[in-house]
Amino acid sequence: MSRNTQRVLDPASGTRMMWDDKKNPDVIFGDCRTETITVTDRSHGNLSGTRTLNIDPDMKMDFRDMPFDDETFKLIAFDPPHLVSAGPKSWLAAKYGKLSDNWQDDLRQGFAECFRVLHPDGTLIFKWNETQIKVREVIDLAPMRPLFGHLSGRKGLTHWLVFMKPQTSNEGDTK
Ligand SMILES: C[S@@+](CC[C@H](N)C(=O)[O-])C[C@H]1O[C@@H](n2cnc3c(N)ncnc32)[C@H](O)[C@@H]1O
Repeated sequence: MSRNTQRVLDPASGTRMMWDDKKNPDVIFGDCRTETITVTDRSHGNLSGTRTLNIDPDMKMDFRDMPFDDETFKLIAFDPPHLVSAGPKSWLAAKYGKLSDNWQDDLRQGFAECFRVLHPDGTLIFKWNETQIKVREVIDLAPMRPLFGHLSGRKGLTHWLVFMKPQTSNEGDTK
């Protein structure tokens, strides 16, 4: 198990796009891959027609089996892949990753691991884009209900949900 002093975890941090300080020393940025990929991108008048994505986690990790003790972090931001189908050349899949055929089990395990390594009273922020899978199907995979949420994005498809880990394990049986 890893001994660390950081209070915040992002176990699927990708390009760290959503972070204000992408090198915040209070955060462990994890991901299952380390890679630099150049993808086709002609959006926003991009003259080169390509974009380079850099995925360079502090720690390589699998959010289904995290290398941390129980109750380690005060805050976790969990933003797993949300696509089940994408072409082999898809830049969205290159950027955000792709779910496996066992995505329900993967996300269920991911939620369970987040709550295991979260401190009692700690907060989990979960981000989900429901272009392909409805958010309610995904909430059903979490061990408890969110407190509240917010929709964002140009098409109103990106959900930000807030969970709080109970003080004791019995309080978690709120479904
Ligand atoms: C939606 S993206 C995260 C985007 C990120 N929040 C940002 O701001 O750029 C999901 C990330 O999860 C990673 N991932 C997929 N399966 C994983 C796993 N089992 N464990 C850890 N990371 C995983 C992918 O490599 C991808 O970078």
